[in-house]
Amino acid sequence: MSELRAVILAAGKGTRMRSKLPKVLHKVGGKPMLQHVLDAADAAGAAEKIVIVGHEAELVETMVGEQGRIVLQAEQLGTGHAVMQTKDVLAGFTGTAMILCGDTPLLDGAELKKFYEAHVQSGAAATVLTAFMDNPFGYGRIVRDADGNVQGIVEEKDADAQQKLIKEINTGIYCLECPLMFDVLATLTCDNAQGEYYLTDVLTKLNAAGKKVGGVVTEDSDMVMGINSRRQLAEAESVMRVRILNRLMDDGVTIMDPASTFIEGSVKIGRDTIIYPFTWLEGSTEIGEDCEIGPNVRLTNVEVGNGTHLQFVYGHDCKVCDEVTAGPYVHLRPDTVIGNKVKIGNFVEVKNSNIGIGTKLPHLTYIGDSDIGSGVNMGCGCITVNYDGKKKHRTVVEDNAFVGCNTNLVAPVTVKAGSYIGAGSTITKEVPENSLGIARAKQKNLEGWAEKYRNQ
Ligand code: UD1
Ligand code: CA
Repeated sequence: MSELRAVILAAGKGTRMRSKLPKVLHKVGGKPMLQHVLDAADAAGAAEKIVIVGHEAELVETMVGEQGRIVLQAEQLGTGHAVMQTKDVLAGFTGTAMILCGDTPLLDGAELKKFYEAHVQSGAAATVLTAFMDNPFGYGRIVRDADGNVQGIVEEKDADAQQKLIKEINTGIYCLECPLMFDVLATLTCDNAQGEYYLTDVLTKLNAAGKKVGGVVTEDSDMVMGINSRRQLAEAESVMRVRILNRLMDDGVTIMDPASTFIEGSVKIGRDTIIYPFTWLEGSTEIGEDCEIGPNVRLTNVEVGNGTHLQFVYGHDCKVCDEVTAGPYVHLRPDTVIGNKVKIGNFVEVKNSNIGIGTKLPHLTYIGDSDIGSGVNMGCGCITVNYDGKKKHRTVVEDNAFVGCNTNLVAPVTVKAGSYIGAGSTITKEVPENSLGIARAKQKNLEGWAEKYRNQ
């Protein structure tokens, strides 16, 4: 089969987005639209991806990075003009250029691959991917002859009344044979309603020159949805969301209420995990098997083991191991590792800390910059005093220590293995192994005091 290269048009401003950000960098499913297109081009088998940039070129270029070649279209004179800019980078290339737009985030790589294969098999000089739309307004219309061959494409603004009735539209996706494509591009003019160089005219001209021009209809009209406005962005987001959730359910994840569950495409979830409503899972989050996540959990870049139960938890950039129970109202902050079988209760915050196996942090506790061993019990209201106003210091609590309620551990400080801390202590010095550390004012009882006070 001939070689395939993808040309992705992403130079336009996207005026209707009313945004500082170039349109193709707006995210769908947690990923820039252009990234979805690059991924689809890869899945279609493109040997190289060329991205045409113009508006906010540097931002788009940064996002593309090493993934593709950048070609600048300094002035946006139309889709035909955009493709013309690849003349140098595709000089000497004999094969198929697949033209894609950067604002179609729902593309399906496997469908694109089929489209490419159909193009190659037909031997056409050009093939356009088309779709039938109930409301074709705004799109270029596919004009076919009596035998069903594609004669050309007419833009909405150039179409006559009869052509406007056509429901088969141009998706803006094409396979074009090179170098023939460049020969025709060189002959384009801009004598049309928009004064632009239309890429669509390449097909019309090829047909007029007696070359074979094909049209392949896609069943999946969602796939080719182009995003021009924030409303369409929200539509694409909801289509993408359903796709992601369906894939997870097909893979064995229970999602109690898809309508209130928000999971980015990058997230991985193991079998027989149950996701309860109002849950957001984002970034590189990975969850194991047999977990119960939610209700009201938000995890951003969190690794979760197997059999863990989280409810009303916000975690980011941290790791939660197996059979942990956390929540309600727990905040797990970056660089934290919660060990197996840990229990974290109500209103607890953990930051930059390691919590050992089976340790309990049941209520109203702040653990920051700490290494807490295994089998430790932190009583209600324990606080690590990690910040002296200038620097952060570490707290170490060794295995099987029992820290009484309402204790302050003033870092840097260590509580050695098996020790007890009396409730209400403010610990500033190391507590040796298997001892009792107690640091609070001694209680004094004045007998009969109340009676005297009342009679005063
Ligand atoms: C284009 C097609 C139309 C098709 C529709 C599908 C033409 C003339 N028309 O119309 O038949 O139905 O797409 O969505 O091609 N771009 C550049 N440089 C330019 C102009 C555009 O890079 O000079 C990029 C845009 O950023 C965008 C894409 O090309 O990603 C499409 O351009 P747009 O102006 O949106 O074309 P449409 O009018 O939608
Ligand atoms: Ca468009």
